[in-house]
Amino acid sequence: MLACTATVPQGSSIHSQLAEDVRRGLSARPRSLPPKWFYDTRGSELFDQICELPEYYLTRAERAILERDAAAIVQESGAHELLEIGSGFARKTGLLLQQMRSPRYLPFDISTEALEASARSLRAVVPSLIIDPIVGDFEHDVARVPRSTAPRLWAFLGSTVGNLDEQQAPAVLGAFARRMAPGDTFLLGVDLVKDVPTLERAYDDAAGVTALFNKNVLAVINRQLDADFDLDRFEHRARYDVPLARIEMHLEARGAQRVRIRALDLTVDFDDRERILTEISRKFTRETTEHTLRAAGLRVRRWFSGEGFALVLSELAS
Ligand code: SAH
Ligand code: TRP
Repeated sequence: MLACTATVPQGSSIHSQLAEDVRRGLSARPRSLPPKWFYDTRGSELFDQICELPEYYLTRAERAILERDAAAIVQESGAHELLEIGSGFARKTGLLLQQMRSPRYLPFDISTEALEASARSLRAVVPSLIIDPIVGDFEHDVARVPRSTAPRLWAFLGSTVGNLDEQQAPAVLGAFARRMAPGDTFLLGVDLVKDVPTLERAYDDAAGVTALFNKNVLAVINRQLDADFDLDRFEHRARYDVPLARIEMHLEARGAQRVRIRALDLTVDFDDRERILTEISRKFTRETTEHTLRAAGLRVRRWFSGEGFALVLSELAS
């Protein structure tokens, strides 16, 4: 059984990383926070709710592709193992695992709670499943991934790659690619460029769940670093930048305010309407997807798409 770290233990490496990230991001201007800190217990739950929202078409589109093409993907990959990066609650993963003979599943996530919950629900769907969870940060802990014992399908779903910028995405994908064996394959889920209103609605829903998710990162900092952010004095903002082909999510200060982060001995003064960049979500074309994969040492083998989303099966380029 994995230890539950709904609260990050003081003194752990994850806790000191949070401290370092918050100090760096809030000391600089423009201010920013890295998105991995969204996913505490409450954050993971809110993200799970986002996936069900009428405006958030991504999860439904990706699931529809898997319902149609999982058999072809698994057959083409020849895989008996599935390593999933940023697996979360793994709600779509059963569709791939059900197509594998005596599969082994290696979910990799920063949230131990999500790893535990996904193991429980997948065992109910695929009783023979062997599960070897890996707790870690996919930007730093690739070395924790054990070498393949059989042809392995590596999956990075949910357009989480879109939350990495032009430098980070090839770096993260490249680090995983260097860990791949020659017969392994890599399945990447990317959200495709589409009309601006559809994109902006997906990140600013009418029920306000995404706003709660965005503000939750401030609650994480309040709890973990003894800070005093007033969540009611920040507003959720999401807008699509057409040239950069990305959604930018901000928290905007309502009124000038001072925030103390006691564990860091840091005081941050916000101007009225000053913004913190909390997340980007890049949107792809076939060209930019291929470019990103190529920069990571991967080449496209097959492209599966539908409803403005794509699953791309790739292999090592050499
Ligand atoms: N793959 C799932 C969940 C996507 S949400 C889906 O398609 O619905 C993103 C997931 O990635 C969350 O579970 C979060 O905990 C995890 N995550 C985010 N940043 C991470 C990082 N740096 N290292 C490891 N996991 C991370
Ligand atoms: N990978 C998801 C995406 O880019 C993450 C996400 C969805 C998200 N909605 C969000 C992140 C709202 C922050 C805020 O679509």
